[in-house]
Amino acid sequence: MTDISAELAERAARVLPGGATHASRTYSPPLYVSRAQASHKWLVDGRELVDFTMGHGALLLGHAHPAVVEAVCDQAARGTHYGAGHPLEVEWAERICAAVASVDEVRFTASGTEAVMLALRVARAATSRDVVIKLDEHFHGWSDAVSVNIEGGVARPAPGVPSSQVQSTRVIPSGDVEALRAELARGDVAAVIFEGSGAHYGRIPLPDGWATAARQECDRAGALLVIDEVVTGFRVAPGGMQSVLGIRPDLSVFGKIMAGGLPGGAVGGRRQLMELLATTIAHPGTFNANPLTASAGIATLELCADGRPQQVATAFAIQLQAGWEDVLRRRGVEGGVRRLASILHLGLADPQRQAVLATRLREQGVDLLHTSAFCSAVHTQQDLELTVGALDDVLSAVRA
Ligand SMILES: Cc1ncc(COP(=O)(O)O)c(C=O)c1O
Repeated sequence: MTDISAELAERAARVLPGGATHASRTYSPPLYVSRAQASHKWLVDGRELVDFTMGHGALLLGHAHPAVVEAVCDQAARGTHYGAGHPLEVEWAERICAAVASVDEVRFTASGTEAVMLALRVARAATSRDVVIKLDEHFHGWSDAVSVNIEGGVARPAPGVPSSQVQSTRVIPSGDVEALRAELARGDVAAVIFEGSGAHYGRIPLPDGWATAARQECDRAGALLVIDEVVTGFRVAPGGMQSVLGIRPDLSVFGKIMAGGLPGGAVGGRRQLMELLATTIAHPGTFNANPLTASAGIATLELCADGRPQQVATAFAIQLQAGWEDVLRRRGVEGGVRRLASILHLGLADPQRQAVLATRLREQGVDLLHTSAFCSAVHTQQDLELTVGALDDVLSAVRA
């Protein structure tokens, strides 16, 4: 730890709970970034990292992409909030509707969490039912309705969530079609929400065919199917995870890439459902579709519309997966690398090694999100060599 980061950590501990601003941004030693460009970020002490957190997956085009910077700077000079409609919100919505087949209309929010809250409210209003089914470990932000998981065989709300939440949020084991069918048969379910990638952006995949089965079961039960595309939207393909799975959800939730690295989210879906926001459901929100986020979102979606950045990022991820797998094999370390498009999940069989893996890799100049890597369209061959070499160094050190 350097003097600068130690001093920042000391000041942070006095004014930020736990010295941090996000449940998973607690680092030991502390990590303070002062600048980022393309696939790299620089710490306050000048140290450089190859970045695979990529804004928690929000940056398919890398940090400070020139087109995004230009759009945001231009917009900032024209004003960041008009308290009124503006042309960019229309174009932003048009781009999302054009990319995602199941989406006729969208409503913007300030985050993915808010988009999930809104999608569930639309589903409840549309069905006049209260219950939401979520899959164990699937993450949908931090609102009460989705902060329930199975612990010790029973559904438990997270600390601070009302215990009564379990009455309207039912959690089923991920991938269990029978459990889904049984819950839907109770006739009170408004919506089933799930990460199309499987839990933790693909770390725990869903069995093949689960999404298709869920679609059929929801139709049979008169419940809505809500896919969470906050991570997968515009990353795995321009049409999102739903285009890969070949399903048509009733509602989709977006965030991250669609907001171009600024705060934002959206719900999209069938016109008949979305029009409830014009007739029945009041949805305010000071920063909905703010012009600054809209400018970044449009610049990003324009570049991602033809699927090329997604292909480049995925091609890089395939190379990195092969490189890491080769290291594991050569070092004789039990583990594996799972890949969903441009997202990699590195896993070591030994829990003790796994627990320190991200920290050790960071010491070697590679920053993962936990032990996952969000590859971008701007990672380079040099990044690849450094990142494969970093794992090699970490595993040789652990062996020694
Ligand atoms: C799948 C998924 N849904 C929803 C969210 C919540 O989005 P936000 O952090 O923008 O509130 C996240 C955040 O990481 C996510 O990964």
